[in-house]
Amino acid sequence: MKDVTALAGMDLQVDETGLLLQFGPNIRHPAPEFRTLDHVRTSLADPGARGPDHLYTIYMDIYERSDEPALRDQGLLYGAVVYNHGAMGKEWVRSQGHVHSEKNGTGLRYSEVYEFWTGTGYIYLQKENGPVVSRAFLVEVKAGDRLLIPFGWVHLVVNSGDDVLSFGAWCARENILEYDRLRELGGPAHFVLTDGSVVKNPRYQSVADVQYATPRDFPHLGIAHDRPIYSTWKRNPGALTFMAHPELVGDLWAEL
Ligand SMILES: [Fe+2]
Repeated sequence: MKDVTALAGMDLQVDETGLLLQFGPNIRHPAPEFRTLDHVRTSLADPGARGPDHLYTIYMDIYERSDEPALRDQGLLYGAVVYNHGAMGKEWVRSQGHVHSEKNGTGLRYSEVYEFWTGTGYIYLQKENGPVVSRAFLVEVKAGDRLLIPFGWVHLVVNSGDDVLSFGAWCARENILEYDRLRELGGPAHFVLTDGSVVKNPRYQSVADVQYATPRDFPHLGIAHDRPIYSTWKRNPGALTFMAHPELVGDLWAEL
C-alpha cells in the first residue's frame, strides 16, 4: 500500500497488489471498473499479444463529500486510474487511447489534466485522429508530474516502469470518451516497445516522427506544477473553469 495523500491532495492510498485505491472516510467514489487485455487488443501492434489480463482499474467520479455541489455546478469530474506494469507482446502495458468529445457549438474538444502519483511512464499525444498524423509526442512522466492534454488530441498512458502507475485527472462532466475512430485506425500512430524503440503503426498512411517532451513543454493555463490538482481547484475553483468551457481559451496548441 502506498500513501499518495500528499501528491493527490486527498486521503488516498494505492493498493499496488490489487490495482485498487483505498479512500479516506471523507471521500466519495464509485465502484472500480476494470479493463482487461481483451479491451485493448484491437489497438495493439500485435492483436494476438499476450500479457497481464488485468491492465488497469478506473474510478470515474471521486470527491470530498463537501465538494459535490460545487463540482456539479461547475461541470467538473475528477477520476483516477491504476495501471498494471509489464508487457503486452512487444509493447508496454498501456491504455487503448481515445479523444474527448466536442463541446457543442464551439468546434473545440474537452481537455484533461493529469497528475501522476506512482510509477513512471509516458503520455502519448497524437494531434490527428485520422490516417495522416502531423505531430506526436511522448511526454515522460513520474510521480508529481502534472500535464494538460491539448484539446482534441488523441492520448494514452504507457507504463514503461517496473511499478504500478497511478494518476488522478480532471475533465468535464459532459465529456464523452470517444474510442471508435482510433480503433478503426488500428490503434495509435506509434507503438512504444519494451526494447526502448518506438515504431510507426503500418495501418496509417503517413506519420511524423515522434518527439520527446516534458510536461513543462506544454501550456498549463495556470495549473500549478507543484501542487495537487485537486488542491488547485479547492483553492481557486475558477482555475478549472476552462475544462468545462474550452471556448474560454481556444486552441492554444494549433502551432504545437
Ligand atoms: Fe482522456
